Amino acid sequence: MSKRVTISTLNKMKAAGEKFVMITAYDATFARLVSEAGAETILVGDSLGMVLQGHDTTVPVSIDDMAYHTACVSRAKPHSLIVADMPFMSYDTPENALRSGMALMQAGAQMVKLEGGIWLSDTIEMLVERGVPVCAHLGLTPQSVNVFGGYRVQGRTPKEAKSILADAVEIQDAGASLLVLECIPAPLAADITRKLDIPVIGIGAGGGTDAQVLVLHDLLGLSEHPAKFVENFMENNGSVQESLSAFVDAVKSGRYPRDEHTYN
Ligand code: KIV
Repeated sequence: MSKRVTISTLNKMKAAGEKFVMITAYDATFARLVSEAGAETILVGDSLGMVLQGHDTTVPVSIDDMAYHTACVSRAKPHSLIVADMPFMSYDTPENALRSGMALMQAGAQMVKLEGGIWLSDTIEMLVERGVPVCAHLGLTPQSVNVFGGYRVQGRTPKEAKSILADAVEIQDAGASLLVLECIPAPLAADITRKLDIPVIGIGAGGGTDAQVLVLHDLLGLSEHPAKFVENFMENNGSVQESLSAFVDAVKSGRYPRDEHTYN
């Protein structure tokens, strides 16, 4: 990738049916490697609470943590679009969301990600109107793990599926630019991807989305208890760089995810 990726690059890729890739990174070195591997987007995920800080969930992550790691990633000047997670309770009101959005954008994010649907419409509208692009996140939203009672597949009943689809349409109408769908049945994710104009990024959501995201430590085989949708790309590759490129190639060619990574 020679030019910096923007939301128009991703919109064009969706229109052309070209898959794109998101990988998490939390520091300058990995941001450079992820960008060099050709991933169009980097997610400074609040998964850093688990993979860097050793917490059991993402709930303890603070806005200062997120701003610090976003600034580290941004200093690498990656070609990839930098999306940074708004952590737990940092967007509980539109006013808090504006403050948190400001902190992350000033640290170097080019878009912020937040978890939730219809209840966030006003917040998304307010952020976008003030120059903060938004990626929404639906399905298994890890900040709500204590409400779900564990990391469980969402959208399996007709009622849940209907509600996730309604949330997706609402957040698009509110002005979100991207949507992440996590751990939902593949047919539901494919249906939402077809119905939305904005690009949809899946994780544990099958191969019918416009893009795939994985947590860096998962795809490098470093996680203790990987989920069903994770592939360890270090297994058949000799270096971190080769593994990142292999993940990018596998997504773009449709070789990842396979049936064994998918919920139905
Ligand atoms: O925090 C994170 O890494 C995420 C991905 C799992 C999508 O939100």
